[in-house]
Amino acid sequence: MKMVISGSKGHHLAYKIAKKLSIDFVPCEVRLFPDGELYIRITKDPYNKSIIYLQSCYGDPSRDILEFIFTVRTLKELNSKEVIGIIPYLPYMRQDDRFKNYEVVSAKILFEIIRESGLDMLISIDIHLHRLADLTRIFGFPIVNLTAMEKLALASLEYFDDRDIIVVAPDSEAEQWAKLASDTLNTDYIVLQKVRHGDEEVTVSGELSGVEGRSILIVDDIISTGSTLVNTLKELRKFNVKRVIAACTHALLVRNAEEKLFNAGLDAIISTNTVLNPYMKVDVADIIAEYLSRHFTKN
Ligand code: R5P
Repeated sequence: MKMVISGSKGHHLAYKIAKKLSIDFVPCEVRLFPDGELYIRITKDPYNKSIIYLQSCYGDPSRDILEFIFTVRTLKELNSKEVIGIIPYLPYMRQDDRFKNYEVVSAKILFEIIRESGLDMLISIDIHLHRLADLTRIFGFPIVNLTAMEKLALASLEYFDDRDIIVVAPDSEAEQWAKLASDTLNTDYIVLQKVRHGDEEVTVSGELSGVEGRSILIVDDIISTGSTLVNTLKELRKFNVKRVIAACTHALLVRNAEEKLFNAGLDAIISTNTVLNPYMKVDVADIIAEYLSRHFTKN
């Protein structure tokens, strides 16, 4: 017996996944005590059931992650048969190393806490992986990293006037997504170099002559403040380029990111619904449900 349950920010995806897999959908009751602490109740007995638990993390990632950990631990205490956790956008991944003395390496600690919660498997989409490669081997429990990049590349086609598209990765980390997108569109890609000087201070450089006269698809995992893309656009606009579309999996769009991007000459943003935003063109519920259905058939 299986059950899909959702955290406070997971309903939009958990409901669809439950429907696609014909499994019961059970939202958790989540509210804040007057002092800001979380109250959580699982509203149906999880005893001896395989639980698919989905919680999105954005807006208040620390609280959302804590809600996830509390709920997983409780599902295990209440003797669920297994708990498969889904965090479509996994936060805290960018600090995956100690760049300055004494810094917290949040990515590693987060995986360790999730493992200690007793979770049987973690599924996410386009995890920001730079220096951490084989997550399952490093952290000792199954971590599945799905991608939405092929679907995003296909969705971008309706925004271009022609098929002479070149894919642009704003930094070396985005090369993995540029490769997927360019394979999907059967075109080429270039990788730029990014140096981050502060939260919104970024420089982007590289050999861009190949963009001349072409349509551009910039790909990245996250748009946060938009600074990476604004500086990529600045470089692109030095050439005669046609439409410039940005495709990203997780459109966090914090502060005035959209204003900055459109003022810098971006023609459109397309993204998924890992976090709710105005530019959702790819539904990751399909990607997750397809994976789960293969997983349950195998096991
Ligand atoms: C970091 O390397 C990520 O892949 C993104 O490029 C980054 O998070 C985007 O952040 P922002 O929009 O604030 O430049």
